[in-house]
Amino acid sequence: MSDEGPKDVPGRRDFLGTTITGTAATLGVVSAYPVVRFLSPRPDPGQRIATAGEAEKFLPGTSKTVLLGDKPVLVIRLDDGQFRAFSAICTHLQCVVAYSAQHRQIECPCHKGVYSLEGANVSGPPPRPLQSVGVEVVNGIVTLTEA
Ligand code: FES
Repeated sequence: MSDEGPKDVPGRRDFLGTTITGTAATLGVVSAYPVVRFLSPRPDPGQRIATAGEAEKFLPGTSKTVLLGDKPVLVIRLDDGQFRAFSAICTHLQCVVAYSAQHRQIECPCHKGVYSLEGANVSGPPPRPLQSVGVEVVNGIVTLTEA
């Protein structure tokens, strides 16, 4: 006869130990997360970033309208390959402007406002230039920034 207990006793102890350790670890992570997040540096809330796709697929003489935050931005690739970006909100009554490849200018469909490719208001009712948006190619991606 043997004095050994049931063979499953060590298994129960292992299971309990693992469960307690796992629960303690989970509680530690859950309770530490708000503290770590509070102490971590936060991104600049005034800096918004968006992308307009791969630069090599963005053909010269074309444009895209993308959202930067909740605002539309008109991104134009000029014939020489440079990028320009402006707020796509017309400075007259806030219609969304578009690039005209045919006329090589920016046009507002609402009241025929016209802007140059530098964003200057050149004809029609717009009272001010379009707001410029930062644009650069970062690792092959057209990246927009607004302060
Ligand atoms: S809203 Fe653009 S010209 Fe009037």
